[in-house]
Amino acid sequence: MEKSVQLKDGVYWVGAIDWNVREFHGYTTSRGTTYNAYLVRGEKTALVDTVKAGFFPEMFSRIESIMNPAETVMGEAAKYFGNILMPLAPLIPPLLKKVKKMGIPIEMIAPSHGIIWRSYPEKIIQAYTDWSKGIADDRVLIIYDTMWQSTETMAKAISQGISAAGVENKLIHVRKNHRSDIMKEILSAKILVIGSPTINEGIFPTVAELLIYLKGLRPLKKKGVAFGSYGWGGEAIPAINDAMKGMGFEIIDPGLSLMYVPGEEDLENCVALGEKIAASL
Ligand SMILES: Cc1cc2nc3c(=O)[nH]c(=O)nc-3n(C[C@H](O)[C@H](O)[C@H](O)COP(=O)(O)O)c2cc1C
Repeated sequence: MEKSVQLKDGVYWVGAIDWNVREFHGYTTSRGTTYNAYLVRGEKTALVDTVKAGFFPEMFSRIESIMNPAETVMGEAAKYFGNILMPLAPLIPPLLKKVKKMGIPIEMIAPSHGIIWRSYPEKIIQAYTDWSKGIADDRVLIIYDTMWQSTETMAKAISQGISAAGVENKLIHVRKNHRSDIMKEILSAKILVIGSPTINEGIFPTVAELLIYLKGLRPLKKKGVAFGSYGWGGEAIPAINDAMKGMGFEIIDPGLSLMYVPGEEDLENCVALGEKIAASL
């Protein structure tokens, strides 16, 4: 594998070297030349310029030394499926079966959006088969919002309990992640742990919005748990439970709600809930 050259934090040279070119626009290049291309990684990844035809494998190899472009592709496919195709999931397995029965060798898949799968079409077919059946990984997402960090403190303690049991989990603050990116994560997670403070006798608006979006996308085979901090009535937790039941979730635990700022014992209960969640996989 060719190596990239890091120029600065997040900025890499990923071009190619043409040692043998001896002429460039009419003047001599006795030492050859470079075709410079740069990979800039920040919130998103950008490739600035590319290389001369014939040198693409060298450039791709340098990119692969930093990141796997094929992964990126599957991530985008998951995002599309999670946000657009999920409600149509039951239609997909019979359709794939029908195409298989026709016995047509699939060389390439050219969809109406996105990349054309000119190689490894079986990879995306397998992914669509799994996603449309609700097959997900042994992963837990802790999705929450918070006004004054009490619900966030609970989220971190629940995560600690899940991690202690050796299960992969991720904290997702709903105001710091777009709902379409959250859906990509939801697609591949078996358990959703949803947290909200109680506000005006209900769920915090951003969490409620996500639940409404999720309901419309009709997720399959999810397990769920609700949690959150409250002041007096604590109406958010039963409301989250109702929303999850309405989507056919298997409820692992009645949920954990606690008054105002979590104390030491409260946090121990959060860790214990995390362990229980991990054990339910
Ligand atoms: C504007 C506002 C409205 C609230 N309404 C309720 C309510 O209806 N019922 C309740 O139990 N707590 C209510 N609370 C209290 C919060 O749920 C409580 O402060 C909680 O600890 C906040 O959690 P957080 O730190 O995760 O934001 C309200 C708080 C605020 C600021």
